[in-house]
Formats: sequence, C-alpha cells, structure tokens
Amino acid sequence: NFPVIAIDGPTASGKGTVASLLAEKLGFHYLDSGALYRLVALASEKQGIDVKNGPELGLLVPKLLILFKNSQIFLNGEDVTDAIRTENIGLRASTLAVHPEVRTALVGLQRSFRQPPGLVADGRDMASVIFPDAVLKVFLTATAIARAERRYKQLIAKGISAKLFDLLQDLQERDARDSSRGTAPLLVADGAKVLETSDLSIDQAVKTVLDWYQS
Ligand code: CDP
Repeated sequence: NFPVIAIDGPTASGKGTVASLLAEKLGFHYLDSGALYRLVALASEKQGIDVKNGPELGLLVPKLLILFKNSQIFLNGEDVTDAIRTENIGLRASTLAVHPEVRTALVGLQRSFRQPPGLVADGRDMASVIFPDAVLKVFLTATAIARAERRYKQLIAKGISAKLFDLLQDLQERDARDSSRGTAPLLVADGAKVLETSDLSIDQAVKTVLDWYQS
C-alpha cells in the first residue's frame, strides 16, 4: 500500500497550506478532505436539503460528481473552487459533518485518493478513521488567537472585510463542534506527533514534518 501522511488539526491551523506544500515537495497526491464536506454543503444547499437531515445528506453524497483538477474543484461539471470557500459554506460544512451518514458516505471517496507514489491527506480524522495505517500522523495546531489572526490576514488580503473578534468567536464555536461530535471527534490520534505552529512560519512547519517523514 502506498504511504500516507495524515495531517489533522483544528480550523485555520494552517494544515491545508502545510499539507499541500508537503505533497508538492514529495511529489505525492493531496487530499483536502474539508473540501469534500464543503462540496456536500454547497450541493445540499442548492437542493434545499436541511443540514439536520443526516440520512438524506448521506444519500446525496454518491450522487455528486466531484472532480479535482489542478487547483480547481468541479461539482457536477461546474467550477465551484471559490463558491465552496465562503464562510457560510464553511459553517454549513462544519454543521453537517456531525452526521455519521455523511461521514460514512465519504470514506470510500477519501481512500480512493491513495495512489502511487503516495498521499498527503489533511482533515480532522485522517489519522484516526480514514488512514489509520498512515506512516506519519501529525496533529497541527496553534492557539485560537493565532489562528483567528491568520484567518483575518487571509480575508483582508483578499479584500474581504472581517472583524478579529467575530472570527475568534466563530473559530471557537467550530472547535467546540468538531471536538464534541459523537462520530470522529477532532482529537490527537494514537501515535500522532503534535506540531504547535503559533510561532512557526509555514516553511518551518513544512520542514519539521518533512524531517519527521524522512527520519
Ligand atoms: O476552514 P476549516 O479548516 O474549518 O475547514 P475545512 O478543512 O475546509 O473543512 C470544513 C469543515 O468540514 C470543518 O469545519 C469540519 O467541521 C469538517 N471536516 C470534518 O468533519 N472532517 C474532515 N476530515 C474535514 C473537515
């Protein structure tokens, strides 16, 4: 089986950036599992499915035509790369991610990303549920305030206005939801190495994980 590096962590911890750079450096495939939850959020919103309806959301998943092409994401033929990145869709994704029906329906799709020569997968339950045999498990984290500041800078750079306090509050609500759900709560998996990135640059974080993988 091809090697998997699992990178889990809370919202805005920088795991997406670190994981995709790492995949690039190693020439591995990259799975952004959060994007899949966001795709379910967007598709279900378009179809008017209630975020509380786990069974119906679970049935929707196999009907979705999902394509990752270079850095673009297509849903049923439509380019939704930007549409899935809104705060509203992020919130909806985090809300529907509590349903076991949704999580189960996404397992096979996530595992199908494991292709030669290897995979870097980022999410919440990569190490615990999806790839328990990952060769390296990393739990990437940072303080809530450091994560809120990162998100704030990202939004401002994109010309989107934001309030640091609101972002901090939203992030803490997401942490609470991710940690308290019954199915696949966000936790440090058995055997995972914790990387605290509050005082690390992206390059330092990537280098640390690369050193762990190569040692
Ligand atoms: O921006 P953020 O890091 O919060 O989100 P994301 O990685 O794009 O994922 C969107 C939402 O999907 C998260 O807030 C999680 O609640 C959920 N998710 C999950 O439950 N399991 C995963 N493996 C990935 C994401």
